[in-house]
Amino acid sequence: MNFVKIVEEIRTIRDFKKSPVDQKLIDEIIDFGKNTRSIVPDAEISIKFIENGSKLYKELYGKAGYYGQMIEAPHYIAISSKLYPNYLENSGYIMEAMRLKAWDLGLGTAWLDVEEEETLKDALDMKEEVITAFIAIGEPYKGLFKKDLSPKSTRMGITDMVYHKTWGEEADIEFLDERGITNLFYYAKLAPSWGNIQPWRFIVDDGKIYLAMEKEESKKIDAGIMMLYLDQASHAEGIIGKWIFEKSEKLNEKYNIPDEYEIVAYYSV
Ligand SMILES: Cc1cc2nc3c(=O)[nH]c(=O)nc-3n(C[C@H](O)[C@H](O)[C@H](O)COP(=O)(O)O)c2cc1C
Repeated sequence: MNFVKIVEEIRTIRDFKKSPVDQKLIDEIIDFGKNTRSIVPDAEISIKFIENGSKLYKELYGKAGYYGQMIEAPHYIAISSKLYPNYLENSGYIMEAMRLKAWDLGLGTAWLDVEEEETLKDALDMKEEVITAFIAIGEPYKGLFKKDLSPKSTRMGITDMVYHKTWGEEADIEFLDERGITNLFYYAKLAPSWGNIQPWRFIVDDGKIYLAMEKEESKKIDAGIMMLYLDQASHAEGIIGKWIFEKSEKLNEKYNIPDEYEIVAYYSV
């Protein structure tokens, strides 16, 4: 899978063909998710494929998706997880890895917001589990002209997102170039997030890249997605780094992090 090519192309797909997807492709995507190395040691998740998309669509109509705008697709995939530290970040990481794989195989996906988790649990017959991530999946519908003209959503620039040594101190591109890490952020900035809010900032300090996230619980899925992108971007650049979860008031003070954000992890390069 060519990560660089995929992240430049991939977009959320909201119009799907009604035809079912070849089960072999689905198996490949699910195996890919199962074999993706978690960012949490010994993380236990399960991946559920929902074959009958039209039934689930009817059940969740008005109850899932942004403000109840459920997306109609031939199939859906849900992740459920045991509760352990950083289980939400881990689910975001694994689900996004499956989305990239799906794109690589010519399929489209859309993350779906789950506000009424109980309804989803009932519909999926997963009452005892905690559902952490949910997507629609299928072949993209390209319209009568068979050409996809919808643009990719915009993203903030690298210098708006990456700070040097302290919050607010923009890291200029020359500085990042000297360290050979400009491309890491070029690809990382393409990560999707809830509402495209991009609730992340980075602080580069010596050999570490700190990830600061908006504090809400719901942003933990976004954090996991970003962690996948930075991980993959650095591997593509030949840099083998590692994410370490670390949170402390001392770190937030040291880097002048505003109240709405907190450092959640760092990447050592
Ligand atoms: C956790 C999460 C939940 C999302 N929920 C929805 C949703 O319910 N409906 C929807 O249309 N898009 C949803 N999205 C897709 C984002 O709006 C989309 O990724 C973002 O706007 C960037 O656009 P792009 O993926 O086309 O680059 C969600 C994305 C994430 C990461």
